Amino acid sequence: MRTFSLPGHFLTLAVAATLASAVREITLVNSCPAPINIFVNGNWVDYLPDNGGTSLMSFNNNFTGFIYTDVNGGSETGVGTTRAGFFGQNGYYYIVLDPNHLNVGMDITPTRGPYNGFCEPATCNSLGCPTAYTFPPTRFPPPSFQAPNPPLYACPRPTNVGFTITFCPTGVFPPITQGLEIHPNGDMQKCLDVSGGVYADGTPVQIYDCNGTGAQKWIFRNGRTSVQVAGTNFCLDAGSSPGNGIGMKIWTCYRGLAAQEWIYFNNKFRLARSTQCLDLTDGNLSNGNPVQTWHCSAGNPNQRSWNNVQRANISRAFASSKRDFAAAVSFPWNAISPSPPSACAWMRN
Ligand SMILES: *[C@@H]1O[C@H](CO)[C@@H](O)[C@H](O)[C@H]1NC(C)=O
Ligand SMILES: *[C@@H]1O[C@H](CO)[C@@H](O)[C@H](O)[C@H]1NC(C)=O
Ligand SMILES: *[C@@H]1O[C@H](CO)[C@@H](O)[C@H](O)[C@H]1NC(C)=O
Ligand SMILES: *[C@@H]1O[C@H](CO)[C@@H](O)[C@H](O)[C@H]1NC(C)=O
Repeated sequence: MRTFSLPGHFLTLAVAATLASAVREITLVNSCPAPINIFVNGNWVDYLPDNGGTSLMSFNNNFTGFIYTDVNGGSETGVGTTRAGFFGQNGYYYIVLDPNHLNVGMDITPTRGPYNGFCEPATCNSLGCPTAYTFPPTRFPPPSFQAPNPPLYACPRPTNVGFTITFCPTGVFPPITQGLEIHPNGDMQKCLDVSGGVYADGTPVQIYDCNGTGAQKWIFRNGRTSVQVAGTNFCLDAGSSPGNGIGMKIWTCYRGLAAQEWIYFNNKFRLARSTQCLDLTDGNLSNGNPVQTWHCSAGNPNQRSWNNVQRANISRAFASSKRDFAAAVSFPWNAISPSPPSACAWMRN
């Protein structure tokens, strides 16, 4: 176990708390099959190794806000993310999850046992579970001798009761409930596919007949625009020096890795920090044809037509990342068109 101090303003709260000598200790447990980042109210605070990584954090006992991880399609801001909510006054706690996407299951258990309906564990491992909110509550009932009804929980005594938050209490990421197919050239029979469904660093990404398997379901992480294989911790990755003709692969997802940051714009996927686009090699739709990156050009059908049908869905997912999307919009697209003839020639021969 490690103890972490929190960044600036949390520290201030913690100092204030010592006046009232009321520190709430929260133990974080990562039972997910991947390492996770921990965020508190929009700030990164910790990193936990997979399969049992633990840390202990100290909060003011009136701590109010959210603790969560961005793994598996969650976000740094908490949008689209399972969150542990606390409203320090009266010891309220609760789970919030996105109605459409469960990035992790969660359990919040007070360190003291239940009494009279108070201090019960809050657990949620599936979409639509009645023990979680789909939208954070904005008002809380006044203190009462009667325990609140789930999805609201309370553990008012002792006032500094601790909690354990477990991410992925079942030890796995939730079953794939979402994830979109990515079709080349608007061809609904063909899908962007992880070769052989092998989830490992370096597995090539190719075109294959759509067959509904997880190897063809992609999620678009809110807050950051990585393109991730649903239910795994692998991301579409363009390698360390993306360029024309470089084959695409999957790689373990890392925050802020240039090779994994994409912008979806005008029906193309472009690397956020490069002028390279996801490109159907030679325009060839045969099973097993690897996909690549190629210099973006406006009229190139091998880049333009990813996902005509799902366009709105993908745009929606990406648009919730205002910062990255703003970067996309401010990118001078005209500067990189029209398409260089040599590239097109290469792609069509
Ligand atoms: C928490 O309590 C401290 C002092 O006990 C107070 O200064 C602070 O404003 C409180 N914070 C909240 C969110 O109520
Ligand atoms: C689905 O496609 C994958 C390619 O990733 C292939 O390995 C697998 O055999 C296919 N499954 C079925 C049921 O067609
Ligand atoms: C298309 O891709 C397949 C699979 O990689 C390959 O066998 C075939 O030769 C390609 N066809 C052309 C015309 O390049
Ligand atoms: C994609 O968008 C369509 C049209 O808005 C909608 O009917 C469909 O349910 C969406 N698919 C997913 C997986 O969200």
